[in-house]
Amino acid sequence: MSHPKLTTLPQWQALQRHFAMLGTKHLRELFAADPQRGERLTVENVGLYLDYSKQRVDDDTLRLLRELAEACELPRRIEAMFRGDRINTTENRAVLHVALRAPATKKILVDGHDVVQDVHEVLARMAAFSERVRSGAWLGHTGKRIRNIISIGIGGSDLGPVMAYEALRDYSRRDMTFRFVSNVDGTDFAEAVRDLDAAETLFIICSKTFTTLETLTNAHAARAWSLAALGDADAEKNGAIAKHFVAVSTNAEGVAKFGIDTANMFGFWDWVGGRYSMDSSIGLSTMLAIGADGFRDMLAGFHAMDEHFRRTPLERNLPVLMGLLAIWNNNFLDAATVAVLPYEQYLKRFPAYLQQLTMESNGKHVTLDGKVVDYDTGPVYWGEPGTNGQHSFYQLIHQGTRIVPCDFIGFGQTLNPLPAQGGGDQHDLLMANLIAQGEALAFGKSSDEVRAEGTPEALVPHRTFEGNRPSTTILAAKLTPHALGTLIALYEHSVFVQGVLWDIDSFDQWGVELGKQLAKATIVELTAKDEPKLAHDSSTNALIRRYRQLRDG
Ligand code: F6P
Repeated sequence: MSHPKLTTLPQWQALQRHFAMLGTKHLRELFAADPQRGERLTVENVGLYLDYSKQRVDDDTLRLLRELAEACELPRRIEAMFRGDRINTTENRAVLHVALRAPATKKILVDGHDVVQDVHEVLARMAAFSERVRSGAWLGHTGKRIRNIISIGIGGSDLGPVMAYEALRDYSRRDMTFRFVSNVDGTDFAEAVRDLDAAETLFIICSKTFTTLETLTNAHAARAWSLAALGDADAEKNGAIAKHFVAVSTNAEGVAKFGIDTANMFGFWDWVGGRYSMDSSIGLSTMLAIGADGFRDMLAGFHAMDEHFRRTPLERNLPVLMGLLAIWNNNFLDAATVAVLPYEQYLKRFPAYLQQLTMESNGKHVTLDGKVVDYDTGPVYWGEPGTNGQHSFYQLIHQGTRIVPCDFIGFGQTLNPLPAQGGGDQHDLLMANLIAQGEALAFGKSSDEVRAEGTPEALVPHRTFEGNRPSTTILAAKLTPHALGTLIALYEHSVFVQGVLWDIDSFDQWGVELGKQLAKATIVELTAKDEPKLAHDSSTNALIRRYRQLRDG
């Protein structure tokens, strides 16, 4: 499974030599040398137009990166994932989020069992349930129809659903309220329910394991709130939970123990990683919001990108290109972060979603066979919607000392066309900003240009933009459920490509365990009646004491 140590591969070393030659070449030179560059270094497929001409690469870079990918057996690894091999080796699991969006006519076997049929059975149950809720046929304990949906989950059981709800809000039922509770901070729950009628509120408890502290704590808070607010002292005995709680989980036993009827449980499987689960039943809130047809459109978008990823040669393969460019920027240009900048307000939670997808997947320091890597792996992902970011952190991206590769994401059509207000259509204004930012980053403004504008000499260095700052631009026609599916799958597969080259397990997340374990011990110390005997380091001991003092006044 593991490939020879990355940095000893001749293809890696060839890239290092190539970098030494190309490294300082300015994008201005690269564009001047090739007038067609802006059209040549683009790919358009499955409704996405990817312009990577403003990346600091030339044809040799791309060829060498592909050769590295071949040396790391990327095509074989892609096939292994689609085939259902247990490529998540540290958890001994298949990685089959692609099965979640496979058409019913496909067959994918795990231990001889066709999982696509299971997927479609659950999808049909989700659709029937969603229809009952959306049509008003599903009634709450007091006979009122459900108007509020609160999805409780965290990490992969929250970030995808929140992002998708926000992204597809334009397609959602506007007469229903959708909220999401994730943080164990009680404020999250309290604010979510404060203006809601419990009799009209349905909770979806989303947890793959059904053991996650935050989610179970919030689920208990939700149960207590519902039972108290329903105005029936015997609400629980009278079956109120079944009317107001459904679960999404792989753990039927845990769900039953919590008190939710497993008839109201929507399953998924251990071969779906948490951060790859928004198109499983974890997306029940998405389906409730946009309807089963909209959800299926989204799945079709995912599937279109899956097929593209599986079947397109490396040089025209969108996720492969994205992944290889990420390796180039991370390991050769030494860029430690990536900014994701959607010029689309509905994608405001997309960067947060990508943070988990990318960093929980590729924030690893050992190879598949447990050796500590001698190269950097996953960069930090962050971002905000444009144009807000421009008036905040873009200063650093343009003139700071660090290289921050940017992914600009935009759409040809807005979902909210507003009439022109002087300066032109608002959507044109938005997109003018997206396009201008990429141009400014790449080409900058030389000191001579600044001087030629009559700038006083003392200000010239301050007003100079060195440029040569890499970015990729992704355009699509319109933010639809289908387009969202393709966009997410693009990033999912790009993350996998990077993980294959770095030779890490992109599908485990052991790094979240230690903090969880320590918190369990700490809660005992925080809540002990008498001053506890503390055996941590001096900082942790002092923090525990000080917190207890502050809390107790
Ligand atoms: O943060 C760790 C993690 O295991 C994520 O990978 C996962 O998405 C999240 O916790 C929630 O887990 P669960 O769905 O089991 O509650």
